[in-house]
Amino acid sequence: MTIEQTASRDAARKPDQRPANPRFSSGPCAKPPTFELTKLADAALGRSHRAAVGKGKLKAAIEGTREVLGIPADYKIGIVPASDTGAVEMALWSLLGERKVEMLSWESFGAGWVTDVVKQLKIEAEIKTADYGQIVDLATVNFANDVVFTWNGTTSGVRVPNGDWIADDRQGLTICDATSAAFAMDLPWDKLDVTTFSWQKVLGGEAAHGMLILSPRAVERLESYTPAWPLPKIFRLTKGGKLIDGIFTGATINTPSMLAVEDYLFALDWARSVGGLHGLIARADANAGAVHGFCAQNDWIANLAADDATQSNTSVCLKFTDARIQDGAVFAKAVARRLEAESIALDIGAYRDAPAGLRIWCGGTVETSDIEAMLPWLAWAFEAEIAAQTVAA
Ligand SMILES: Cc1ncc(COP(=O)(O)O)c(C=O)c1O
Repeated sequence: MTIEQTASRDAARKPDQRPANPRFSSGPCAKPPTFELTKLADAALGRSHRAAVGKGKLKAAIEGTREVLGIPADYKIGIVPASDTGAVEMALWSLLGERKVEMLSWESFGAGWVTDVVKQLKIEAEIKTADYGQIVDLATVNFANDVVFTWNGTTSGVRVPNGDWIADDRQGLTICDATSAAFAMDLPWDKLDVTTFSWQKVLGGEAAHGMLILSPRAVERLESYTPAWPLPKIFRLTKGGKLIDGIFTGATINTPSMLAVEDYLFALDWARSVGGLHGLIARADANAGAVHGFCAQNDWIANLAADDATQSNTSVCLKFTDARIQDGAVFAKAVARRLEAESIALDIGAYRDAPAGLRIWCGGTVETSDIEAMLPWLAWAFEAEIAAQTVAA
């Protein structure tokens, strides 16, 4: 047997340890480790969401969000339809058009917001884009404009390093899609006028509802500016020039799922049990740190995010860098398939519009021990696929 054959035989030996939970999807994300369906037994099912019990739970979801995320008392928090997309769209359609807009985009979701603003709303916009793995030059942003950006680009694993680049004395509003950042990264509320996220991301909640968080300046814009275009009922945040306050106390625009609400309340309780926001950030950092360490030890795989300061601690995106790989997309898909077939890692293929590679969710609901158990399998799948490719050639 040659040295290469021995090495490949040894590498192809399956690791002994398996992750207890193979769920590393970037959304819907793994549920909290203590989750069981029976824990939702107190859901207000079959009751009106406008009855005291339903409204109380919706209000608890809002105030629990405020408490765990440390959102200032004078910010409004609303539960809105259509998940994070709904919350972002409500903000774009309700607030933009008063002044010029700067659109910052470095991956698929940010690019989607650009399309909305430019092609649908037809607003005058300065568009700043960067390729997957890179970020736009944040130092050039003009805060006389409204600025729309994504805190963490879920499909490239590139996040803004912090909020220092956002002007304190801005005239425009900052509108931030933070769906894969909230509960995993420090969000500086004084820098954010509109922030959105959905329940199924970092807290592993259920999809359907979006969270819309408004600063006093965003409320002031809503009450002083009326867009030139019609707004469907589902987007309307004001009535007669005044904010519809009920939306921000639990009187939702339309019917929410009380099961999803109960699940979110459970997730918030779990978040508190691991130390709240700081505990959640520490868990995501530890998970991402394990993946980063693995990349440092293996020269055939690397983080897609070029600059360490922008590397996500939730949607960690990886690329294969081995010169022997013949077709990057085919190879990455085959590795992901192998891991899925072994029930080691589910749903870790790169996003469909992103460069070929893998995306491993590292948010706080994932256990670091599961990441650590999964990584040797990634090495195994890589070696197995290199060997399979050689045989096929
Ligand atoms: C950055 C970003 N924005 C928006 C969305 C869309 O979210 P939703 O499906 O909750 O509407 C996603 C989903 O992954 C996302 O990652």
